[in-house]
Amino acid sequence: MRVLTGIQPSGKLHIGNYFGAIKQIIALQEDEENELFAFIANYHALSGGANLDELKQNTLEVAVDYLSLGLNPKKTIFWVQSDVKEVLELYWILSRYTPMGLLERAHSYKDKIAKGISPSHALFSYPVLMAADILLYDSEVVPVGKDQKQHLEMTRDIAIKFNNEHGETFVIPIEKIEDEVAVVPGIDGAKMSKSYKNTIEIFYDTQKQLQKRCNKIVTDSTPLGEPLEWEGNNVFELLKLFSTKDEVEELKKDYKSGNFGHGHFKKLLTQKIWDYFEEAREKREYYLNNINEVKEILNEGAKRARAIASKKMEEVREKVGIF
Ligand code: ADP
Ligand code: TRP
Repeated sequence: MRVLTGIQPSGKLHIGNYFGAIKQIIALQEDEENELFAFIANYHALSGGANLDELKQNTLEVAVDYLSLGLNPKKTIFWVQSDVKEVLELYWILSRYTPMGLLERAHSYKDKIAKGISPSHALFSYPVLMAADILLYDSEVVPVGKDQKQHLEMTRDIAIKFNNEHGETFVIPIEKIEDEVAVVPGIDGAKMSKSYKNTIEIFYDTQKQLQKRCNKIVTDSTPLGEPLEWEGNNVFELLKLFSTKDEVEELKKDYKSGNFGHGHFKKLLTQKIWDYFEEAREKREYYLNNINEVKEILNEGAKRARAIASKKMEEVREKVGIF
């Protein structure tokens, strides 16, 4: 199975990103049958909203973080989108097979302008670039969040239109949306998201900083010494992600016992998060000190991606009469 995914370099990764997306991608590496492609979508970041002064730094940081969290460049072709220029050529060619109405119906475009991002052509044509990302590599499966479902539908529409006109050229991809991965709550109980400023980041410099953040998680005001409700408790929901089934049962008892206050569980959560990412933190330290090695990994990935992309583009150009 050929699996491709794109990651926007839009700032610090948080625990919601890890359990909602990163962990799944890393897990796919276990199956030798999979051909895996992951790239950092820095061209997409130009479509609005991102701070371009930080884009270069963020792109490298996301690469460092993914490698630290277990992305294995021997198993996954890993590169920066802008290192394979073929994607822009395909983007233009696919534009011819993209009806205006299709783009005008895009939810994410409407959502983003409602949030105040200026309605540029880049923002409007974002789904065509995404289709190019996917079709260029004959991707079969694309793991994404729910919000990206429509973009995959658009990609299929564009691919089918092209294939109908020119014969089988593009693989028709499907999305893989993890329903069972619950939405990870932020410190205020709403969905953890950069845009809500309620995240707990994966990497802090010190455990003290992490503790400070965990102390901000909203809990009820049950007085110390009284039993606590675990149901609907934000700290408990987060603790669950880092605990075995047996530990979860123990936790429920501890909540009900009346022997512990919220502070105890926040401390426990801090310790669990800190320990869980211990190995990743060490790797991150290494990659940050050896940033040239990260750049080399990305260059090597780009080379492999380009080999596939340039072959595909020869076929596409031939079909549309470009030489
Ligand atoms: P953010 O909302 O912080 O901007 P993104 O939209 O960049 O996050 O999401 C990147 C990936 O992480 C997506 O696949 C998304 O589904 C996943 N993700 C983000 N937040 C959460 C969350 N709170 N719970 C589960 N998955 C999440
Ligand atoms: N649009 C995706 C997001 O915002 C990122 C992305 C760009 C992507 N190109 C892609 C994801 C291709 C999967 C495949 O999360």
